[in-house]
Amino acid sequence: MYRDVSSCNTYNYGDATYWDARYVQEAEMGHFDWYQRYSGLRPFIRMYIPSCSSRVLVVGCGNALMSEDMVKDGYEDITNIDISSVAIEMMRRKYESIPQLKYMQMDVRDMSFFSDESFDCVIDKGTLDSLMCGTDAPTSAASAARMLGEVSRLLKAGGIYMLITYGDPNVRMLHLDQPVYNWRIILYIIPRPGFQKLANNSSTSRSYLEPVPLTEKGLLPPDFVVEDPDSHFIYVCKKMDETELSSITTYPLDVDHL
Ligand SMILES: C[S@@+](CC[C@H](N)C(=O)[O-])C[C@H]1O[C@@H](n2cnc3c(N)ncnc32)[C@H](O)[C@@H]1O
Repeated sequence: MYRDVSSCNTYNYGDATYWDARYVQEAEMGHFDWYQRYSGLRPFIRMYIPSCSSRVLVVGCGNALMSEDMVKDGYEDITNIDISSVAIEMMRRKYESIPQLKYMQMDVRDMSFFSDESFDCVIDKGTLDSLMCGTDAPTSAASAARMLGEVSRLLKAGGIYMLITYGDPNVRMLHLDQPVYNWRIILYIIPRPGFQKLANNSSTSRSYLEPVPLTEKGLLPPDFVVEDPDSHFIYVCKKMDETELSSITTYPLDVDHL
């Protein structure tokens, strides 16, 4: 469930053959959720996708239980894509009797199968991370831009891109905060599952459900303390409509705007 930082530059996480081999190898395990299970993300999902009839796209679904758990929680229309045909075939078979879940093999950098503005929400847990997890920075940045351009195209005005990642604002904001996407971005930071606060650590009484303050450049304030060094970052990117666009200038952002 945790990221393995040491392997980030070792394996080609952006490569379909890597993932196909991995899903074949781990087939007996059945399922695996990277970073967080649905239970850890539920408060954010319920807050930002209040309607269970929302059309949701999960990109790079892998063999995670997340989408199944969302259906158990009432969500009715979840399309899942992944570049790995192995993962998609396994998931299709597993969920063939659950009409709320659809699985399609697709590269997140080319989702031309879907028309513009066809989803209310796109959820990404670890997939942008996979594309950016290479040693070749220009290639990773180009892949990220293609993916995020596609995500932005598919979102309805007012729709939400929810990115769950290990990437802090220093390494993610420059990709997300691009005028072409028209996204208003709110950040949350949550500890990895099982993280124990030190008993004598009184550094913060902040609730994880509170958005994190950001500087004008969209970064963490210099004095901001991240309790768990292996925290997960949740970027909630709302695609603004024309009215919002005309009234927006700069950070700071706050949740009342969403
Ligand atoms: C870190 S795993 C996360 C899996 C799942 N979202 C979870 O939370 O457990 C990344 C997933 O992204 C998929 N992936 C990698 N590159 C992709 C691409 N270009 N298009 C679609 N999926 C991709 C991989 O096959 C893998 O299933």
